[in-house]
Amino acid sequence: MQMLGVDIGGSGIKGCLVDTKTGELIGERLRLTTPQPATPAAIAHTLKALVEHFEWKGPVGCGFPAIIHNGIAKSAANIDKSWVETDAAHLFTDVTGLPCHVINDADAAGIAEMRFGTGQDRKGVIILITVGTGIGTAIFVNGQLLPNTELGHLMLEGMIAEHYCSDAVRKREDLSWSRWGKRFNKYLARLEFLFSPDLFILGGGSAAKLDKFIDKIETRAPLLAAASLNQAGIIGAALYAESQQGK
Ligand code: BGC
Repeated sequence: MQMLGVDIGGSGIKGCLVDTKTGELIGERLRLTTPQPATPAAIAHTLKALVEHFEWKGPVGCGFPAIIHNGIAKSAANIDKSWVETDAAHLFTDVTGLPCHVINDADAAGIAEMRFGTGQDRKGVIILITVGTGIGTAIFVNGQLLPNTELGHLMLEGMIAEHYCSDAVRKREDLSWSRWGKRFNKYLARLEFLFSPDLFILGGGSAAKLDKFIDKIETRAPLLAAASLNQAGIIGAALYAESQQGK
């Protein structure tokens, strides 16, 4: 089946048609800049433009950078605060005229990696971490997702973890991969202490750069890159849309 998967982020809104049987992208991906301020109306408008670009007429899966409970945003760390309590699923459905299904962005990426990527056929406790503007997490126990874990918001070194070691922080503070890797290692060590995972999977832009800082990672659980790197969010959003058909 084909679905349109969209990954809504703090800096870019990326979408592509996805073959949900294989997890492969169909054709070219489109990236539009996230409007600022990233209000509900502005993001919905950009989503509509993206949907129109693909001339898509079917269901849309949207990964969104917030806690999403039954389609409703419950937090807003890197987007406009007016998102809190906004029914994102209804808003996107209204504005695009297509059925839109909304899921936390890291959960979406995790679903893709567990189905087709690095987590495929792996049991135990797996934590996927997406590192971008913020830090998102998805926890799987024997393949089952615990939705909406917000482990990017743990306190680390006296601050919210994503303010210490997100990719945005690396760029803003002009940290070398080695210095940033040491910070990220501290973050992983905290997660390992709390959850004793069997595997960490890294998604987001940093996944492609893993070789630049893997020597700084000292956790017992291995840290592997997401197989679909930063496309996992798009693929997972499409898989989520498919899973919601007929519900
Ligand atoms: C948000 C999460 C999101 C993550 C990655 C965090 O700031 O609170 O919901 O998954 O950023 O976008």
